[in-house]
Order: sequence, then structure tokens, then C-alpha cells
Amino acid sequence: MSKKKITVSEARGVDFIGCEVRLCGWVRTRRDSKAGFSFVEINDGSSLGNIQIIVAQTVPDYDLLIKTLTPGSSISVEGVVQKSPAQGQLTEVAADKIELIGESDPLTYPLQKKGHSLEFLRSIAHLRIRTNTFGAVARIRNTVSYSIHQFFQENGFVYVHTPIITASDCEGAGQMFRVTVIDADNPPRDNDGKVDYTKDFFGKSSYLTVSGQLNVETYCAGLGKVYTFGPTFRAENSNTSRHASEFWMIEPEIAFCELEENMSWAEKFLKRLIADVLKDRHEDMEFFNRNDTTLIDTLTHVASSDFVRLSYTDAVSILTSSGKKFNYDVAWGIDLQSEHERFLTEEHFKSPVILYDYPRTIKPFYMRLNDDGKTVRAMDLLVPRVGEIIGGSEREYRLNVLEERMREQKLDMEAYKWYSDLRRYGSVPHSGFGLGLERVLMFITGTANIRDVLPFPRTPGNCDY
Ligand code: 4AD
Ligand code: MG
Repeated sequence: MSKKKITVSEARGVDFIGCEVRLCGWVRTRRDSKAGFSFVEINDGSSLGNIQIIVAQTVPDYDLLIKTLTPGSSISVEGVVQKSPAQGQLTEVAADKIELIGESDPLTYPLQKKGHSLEFLRSIAHLRIRTNTFGAVARIRNTVSYSIHQFFQENGFVYVHTPIITASDCEGAGQMFRVTVIDADNPPRDNDGKVDYTKDFFGKSSYLTVSGQLNVETYCAGLGKVYTFGPTFRAENSNTSRHASEFWMIEPEIAFCELEENMSWAEKFLKRLIADVLKDRHEDMEFFNRNDTTLIDTLTHVASSDFVRLSYTDAVSILTSSGKKFNYDVAWGIDLQSEHERFLTEEHFKSPVILYDYPRTIKPFYMRLNDDGKTVRAMDLLVPRVGEIIGGSEREYRLNVLEERMREQKLDMEAYKWYSDLRRYGSVPHSGFGLGLERVLMFITGTANIRDVLPFPRTPGNCDY
């Protein structure tokens, strides 16, 4: 009879002690003892920790086999789970039989027992998932994604799939990747000699989306509470540790909801994601806590304390009267830089901060204009170390004001007619926000560079794998 196949994670618990089992995984380390057996640690991705396999010389073909069990090789083990006498592990597996499934040349396998720098691991992104760090990031990314859906489903939101290919620039920043089938060497041209995109696949210019918001707003105006969760693309040439050209965004949109309620949703949402990771990914979080011993304490505090809410105008006052020398000078009207955001969260308040009511001139057309005529009902949720993690707003639901803002920002009114129609037929106050999945992962895991929380990062100049 074939033995029960279990995971390394299951084998590390007490449930299978005394059971004959089969396990499969990749060898992490091997140590041959003089006493006539070897210790082989394997990992299968089910947990951060490995399981130790005791391979006695009585195992069939020991002499031939044991030399092939090098780091990176894949094996199948049959044996008995037993209590381990060693420190730091509950169990180990005494092997009866081992089969080499795929060998791994120890001379060329790039992952050695000694730690590798994150920079080096980026150059082997196809193998780095076999390290503790990337395994832990991937499991936490999975937990956060699951938790996102749970949060919205439990709160009555409907999941909507907004398109990836679009003709509209939601954020109005013109940082879009063009989608085209036009032959770049021989494009059709119009009478002015310009490339004629009416001859392109969709009969007009089209791009990869920078945000699902405009589309999800239409579903909000019929379903009430909705969210999208998908990849977004930005062709901004900013080579920072917090920007990726392809990243995942979660965008809820809530009808009959003004800015204060929107802020409360954002705060409750972020706290829930953190709490779920702390609850369900204990071992992985302990691992990250070794690099930054304040990480878990900080996250626990964030998940249970009230976030500061502060207007942009008050934030500017705090920054200008702080006496701190910034690289970029602060004055009312500027777009705050990451150094300003970090000062507020890390030094001044030592807490996440939600800034609201930003100058209209630095925000997109769709945000609701305040009565002062100068500011819009925008909000950014800032956290220590990462800065902006959520950006959102109450939307302009008054048709005349929206159209004025569209004209101001030189939008093609005809192209956005479907969007302004939402204000023509049963318009309601509504709000929403976007959470950058990678930003939240950086915050939770303490990872400094966005390239290390994306499976295959796309950044200016980099599109490998
Ligand atoms: O502030 P942003 O640009 O807001 C929007 O796109 C709105 N349409 C959202 C909405 O109201 N539905 O982006 C939202 C979040 C940012 O706060 C940040 O976390 C993340 O998306 N983000 C990026 N993450 C990684 N790389 C980039 N280049 C990012 N740009 C934005
Ligand atoms: Mg933003």
C-alpha cells in the first residue's frame, strides 16, 4: 500500500508522529556523520522551516545515493515521523527509502548555504523562491491576497474584474504603456505624417490600465459596494525602491459614502490585513523580525491603535515649523515627497497618518472639490518606512463641477462621456481608494525594496524572465 503523502509543514507538527509517510521536497543541506548516517534537510515550500531526514547506511543504495543529495536536488522520502531529540525541532523523519527525483549539480547550483544578498538573488529570480526570504514573502503575499478577499466578502462587497486594456488615463499623468499591433518600422500615417492609430487594432490608441477605478465606479453605481484586485501598469521612469512598472492594486468603491467613511474603511482594511498575517504566518513573521526586531511589535501596535487624521494644510504647517532640513522645500501647493511623508509618520507622529484635502492642482480630475475651491477631498494613508500605501478620495458627483475639472485638465469630454453619465443618471456621493499590494507587503515584511516582494519585478530597464 502506498504511504500517505504529507507536506514538510505537516511532518514538522506532532500529528504524524509514529506514522509511516512519504514526503517530497528539495534538499537544503546535508551533513554526513561519522556514526554511519546522514542528516538531510528538505523543504517543500509549505513552511519556512525544513524537516530533517535521518538517512542510515541501511537505507537501500546508501553509498551511491547519499552523494547525490546535494543542495537543490529533489527527492522523495519514505519513512517514519518521530520525535526529535534535537533542539529547535519537534520531529524528524527516519528514512526507510529515498529516491532521487532530480539531481542538482553542486558546482553550478547558485544557492549556497551561506546567505546571499538580495541584489544577487534578484539576478537569479527563477531560483530565489527556494530561499527562506522569498518563500516567506510569497506565503505572506498569498495570505494577504486571501485576506483581502475575505475582508471585502465579509463586508458585502462584490468583486469586479475591470479591464486591463483601456483607452482612458484614470490618473491623468500620461504614464501609460501603449498596446499596439502597429509595425513600428512601417506605421500607417495620417495626412500630418503622424502615426495613424485609427488603423490600430482597436481603431484608436489603447493602453495598459493604470487603475481600475473609472470602470469600477460604473459597477459601484449599480451594486453599491464593489472592489477590483488586479495588475496595473505605470510607465513612470522613477527608479525608486517603492515604484514598480507592474504592480497589483486593490480598489474598493463605495456608494453613498463620503470621505470620512472612506478613511474608516481604509484604516479598518489595512489593520485587518496586518492582523491576519500576524495570526496566520507566525513563523514567517518571526523570521522577518530577526532582521528588524521591532517589526512585529510595530505591526501589532499599528493594528490596534487609531491612525492620525490630518489635513494637508496642517501637515504643511507641521513640516515648515519643524525646523528640519529637507532636500525638497515645503510650501503649500507642493506634492509631498517621500521624505516629508516619512517625517510625519516616523518622527512627528510615530504612527500611520491619513492626510486629506489636498490642493486641487496636484490631484486627478475625478476628486470632489471642496467648498474652498482650492482643495479636493483626497486622502493618502502614509505609514512609517514605506510612505504612501493607500491613495483615495471622495469622487466628484456633481456633473457641472466634474465637467469643469475635465476641461481644466484638458480631457477629451467625449471620450469620458460614459464616466460623466454616472453623474447624469442617479448620481450619488461615493468614495474609494487604491491599496498597492506590494507597498503593504513591504510594510508587513520590513522589505526595503519593492523588487523583493514581486515575483518577477518589472522596473525601468528590467523585464527579465
Ligand atoms: O495613489 P494612486 O495613484 O491612486 C489611484 O490609482 C486611484 N485610482 C486609486 C483609487 O482611488 N481607486 O495609487 C494607489 C496606490 C498607491 O497608494 C500605492 O500604494 C500604489 O497604488 N502605487 C504603486 N505601487 C507600486 N509601484 C507604483 N509605481 C505605484 N504607484 C502607485
Ligand atoms: Mg497616490
